[in-house]
Amino acid sequence: MAEPTQDYSGVRRGDLRAGERVTLTDPKGRRHSIVLAEGAKFHTAKGVVDHDELIGRPEGRVVRSLGGTQFLVLRPLLGEFTTTMPRGAAVVYPKDAAQIVTGADIFPGARVIEAGAGSGALTLSLLRAIGPTGRLISYERRQDFAEVAARNVRNFLGAEHPAWTLITGDLVERLAAEDPGQVDRVVLDMLAPWDCVEAAGRVLVPGGVFCCYVATVTQLGRVVETLRVHGGYTEPEATESIIRGWQAEGLAIRPQHTMVGHTGFLITSRRLAPGETAPVRKRRPAPGAYGADYDGPRAAGQNGPTAPDDAASQDGDQLPGGSSAAG
Ligand SMILES: C[S@@+](CC[C@H](N)C(=O)[O-])C[C@H]1O[C@@H](n2cnc3c(N)ncnc32)[C@H](O)[C@@H]1O
Repeated sequence: MAEPTQDYSGVRRGDLRAGERVTLTDPKGRRHSIVLAEGAKFHTAKGVVDHDELIGRPEGRVVRSLGGTQFLVLRPLLGEFTTTMPRGAAVVYPKDAAQIVTGADIFPGARVIEAGAGSGALTLSLLRAIGPTGRLISYERRQDFAEVAARNVRNFLGAEHPAWTLITGDLVERLAAEDPGQVDRVVLDMLAPWDCVEAAGRVLVPGGVFCCYVATVTQLGRVVETLRVHGGYTEPEATESIIRGWQAEGLAIRPQHTMVGHTGFLITSRRLAPGETAPVRKRRPAPGAYGADYDGPRAAGQNGPTAPDDAASQDGDQLPGGSSAAG
């Protein structure tokens, strides 16, 4: 195993050492991820590269295989590591991990609960953000996935992170044993996060952030409505982030032809103080939003506007800052 980094960031400096993972990129941009070992050889269709040519030398070098092909050698950044590491469950992409860290306001020293740990990709971003003084408890109900997550986290950091606890088990069942109101942030990436809204609400501090990453709009709708029905959370915000790469060569400056079209949606909401309920929304639901076909978490009779002075704002959508736009 590679030497641990002192700050548990996973970032290593200095010459490459045996046990470290490096990425070799060929002239066509193809990437090969290898773990350096003394005496080992990296075989490709383009020839062989001796690991000993890399060990003890700086990253950022260009090495030549015996077949004459050049390879650029670099340590992988966190986002490259998580998209190439072994996985059990699907991983959170770097663009979404970045949004989660900001949207859920993960800070150094934060007490965070995460589920499910899956392959440990999001775990690594959360650990980086909380640092050694925080606390992250990751729940994963599948033993085999938990093992993958533990291995990936250890391989990237080169050590056990002092602020991380990985628990194999179901989040809802396990949260029942946690003290109430002791957690700053709850971050969920799982199939049915709406089942965890109640349990998360019990452990979150007032003002704490509940953050959910889901793949489909049906999941998004169910989470949002469950948060509203719970009553102890602020009006949820839902977002999606789309990143489009660009080609920039001479005058040919344009978006790339291919892109990752969809990953998931982010929903964030904040926990209210005990006994408080969310203010009545001053905006009518869209016509038909809770019509005869609606069978979500809202009970019958909760489907209409709930504020008596609702008519004042029903003509326009709310804009940031409280103004309204005529529709
Ligand atoms: C999409 S994966 C999470 C991937 C992870 N965020 C990553 O970046 O590698 C969803 C995981 O949630 C786990 N899971 C689903 N419901 C759960 C629950 N109630 N408690 C704990 N884990 C759960 C599943 O076993 C699965 O591994």
